[in-house]
Amino acid sequence: MSLFDVTGKVAIITGSSRGIGRASAFELAEHGAKVVISSRKQDACDAVAAEINGKYGENTAIAVAANISDKTGLQNLVDETRKAFGKVDVLVCNAASNPYYGPQEAIADEQFRKILDNNIVSNHWLISMVVPEMRERGEGSIVIVSSIGGLRGSSIIGAYCISKAADMQLARNLAHEYGQHGIRVNCIAPGLIRTDFARALWEDEAAVAERNRTTPLRRIGEPHEIAGAVVYLASPASTFMTGQTLVVDGGVTI
Ligand SMILES: NC(=O)c1ccc[n+]([C@@H]2O[C@H](COP(=O)([O-])OP(=O)(O)OC[C@H]3O[C@@H](n4cnc5c(N)ncnc54)[C@H](OP(=O)(O)O)[C@@H]3O)[C@@H](O)[C@H]2O)c1
Repeated sequence: MSLFDVTGKVAIITGSSRGIGRASAFELAEHGAKVVISSRKQDACDAVAAEINGKYGENTAIAVAANISDKTGLQNLVDETRKAFGKVDVLVCNAASNPYYGPQEAIADEQFRKILDNNIVSNHWLISMVVPEMRERGEGSIVIVSSIGGLRGSSIIGAYCISKAADMQLARNLAHEYGQHGIRVNCIAPGLIRTDFARALWEDEAAVAERNRTTPLRRIGEPHEIAGAVVYLASPASTFMTGQTLVVDGGVTI
């Protein structure tokens, strides 16, 4: 059996209608998992689920829309997953928000709170909803998509970076708390990846040229290059890893 085989596992991936989440859902399905596609828009999720079912067979994917700022919607996401597939083995907290660019002193309280709510508190909610059944089974893998922004200072996206650093601490805390129950909690910290989320950065030719100059691999990343790390953390290949942050950034932080 391949170390990366996740056959029979059920994975929820938030923010999986596009970008890193979508690529992760495809790779998890490729490696045998049942996947639950989720974002705010049911139509977009339906389209991705249909594509996955077309490629990997009927009943590989379902689509359940949920806004990560809505606790009831997240509970419904977990409930619908259990209804369709019976359990949750893998949770990928991937969706996040960043409504503000600029100096920290000018951020509105509402914007700051939205970032903290969507990028930290919502992960805590969703994790708390799936942990009881994982604890009962004695296994589970939780993956939080953080960012290298959480490892460095920023004068432009400071609140977002605070939230991404907090995700790393959340993973460390929960790894401590749940390790004894066979539940692993890890983060991935991507560098700049070609998705809608970072479009403003990679569409700016001068900014990309400068970024590439300081990146050992001399390019930005593609969504599937983060999906491999998600499969690794979801699979038996990583069973001795917990509480860590896996940096996947072309070397830019070294
Ligand atoms: N791209 C990068 O350079 C980069 C670097 C480091 C870390 N990251 C992290 O990677 C993760 C994924 O980002 P991405 O780059 O793949 O972004 P993306 O391509 O823009 O995709 C974001 C996904 O999240 C969904 N989403 C957005 N707001 C949501 C909400 N409130 N509730 C539920 N779903 C929501 C979007 O769908 P809807 O709009 O339909 O809801 C979409 O499916 C984020 O945590 C981000 O911080 C990205």
